[in-house]
Amino acid sequence: MTDQIDALSGELETYTLATPEEREAFRVRFLGRKSGAITDLFKSLRDADASERPALGQRLNALRTRAEERIAEADQQAEQTPDAPDIDLTLPGRIPPLGSRHPLTQTLEDIQDIFARMGFTIAEGPEIEDDFHNFTALGFPADHPARDMQDTFFVAQKGVDGAEEDVVLRTHTSPVQVRALLPQTEGGQARVPIRVIAPGRVYRNESLSYKSYCLFHQVEGLYVDEGVTFADLKAVLYLFAQAIFGDDVQVRFRPSFFPFTEPSAEVDIWQANEELPGGGRWLEILGCGMVDPEVYRHTGVDSERYSGYAFGMGVERIAMLRYGISDIRELYQNDVRLLAQF
Ligand code: PHE
Repeated sequence: MTDQIDALSGELETYTLATPEEREAFRVRFLGRKSGAITDLFKSLRDADASERPALGQRLNALRTRAEERIAEADQQAEQTPDAPDIDLTLPGRIPPLGSRHPLTQTLEDIQDIFARMGFTIAEGPEIEDDFHNFTALGFPADHPARDMQDTFFVAQKGVDGAEEDVVLRTHTSPVQVRALLPQTEGGQARVPIRVIAPGRVYRNESLSYKSYCLFHQVEGLYVDEGVTFADLKAVLYLFAQAIFGDDVQVRFRPSFFPFTEPSAEVDIWQANEELPGGGRWLEILGCGMVDPEVYRHTGVDSERYSGYAFGMGVERIAMLRYGISDIRELYQNDVRLLAQF
């Protein structure tokens, strides 16, 4: 027994007790209730010779006290020097996922920037529009097919006298031309000269396809002053096309018709990427022309003195060309796999 006590008192000094796990293993080894080494020796004390028992008991007590002391010391030390923080400072930081601006928003903002640099300010109008601004003042005859149910979303609304008034979701941003030109007060002057763009949503009751959706965005442009010519219009639109698509963009003016411009044209951009549905073809991005005297008549502009141009471009078409997006509907699905790429 004396040998065992000697061996244990040597052994218990060899333990390092730095971690909670080490301290627990030490406690179990020496003081554990079931089979701790010191506990066991206490149990076998009753088998020892009666004459040796007091001395052995004293030594065992001292041994147990020393074991308890070691644990107490180690606990105290651990409290003063807490464990090294459980983090690895060399790990790269966690980057929170950041949102990005929608490709349409980016395109819209770029378009606005380009025209702002050329001196255009921003005009606005309502998306729910009346027949006068959307059609009549723009020279659409009453039986014009664009008024047909196929293209226009009608909003039923009773006028003050209870009669149905024609209220529509605007089919283009051109009604903002009318709103921008009309005098602000009754009997006032038409607001010319003027140079504005009008970005916004428009709605059409069309069959859906890769290039048509029931709502889309346009940016209208209107410049009316003395001596404005078609050459000014071409210059501004060429500059715009180069600014948005790059200097080597291929641009085509094609004669066209709109009831509110004369002469009128449409502008196409060459889509070189043959893998896209509109690839290897000219893609129309805008309509334009010289403001028709009919519009001046409805807005009170002196058409002998003033002339001007207008244009209206499709923002989705431009975004699709820029980013190689093949289906307009993708711009409205909010699929993060697409949006995260911008
Ligand atoms: N509003 C016409 C459209 O939506 C485009 C246009 C605008 C044409 C201005 C000429 C002048 O198709």
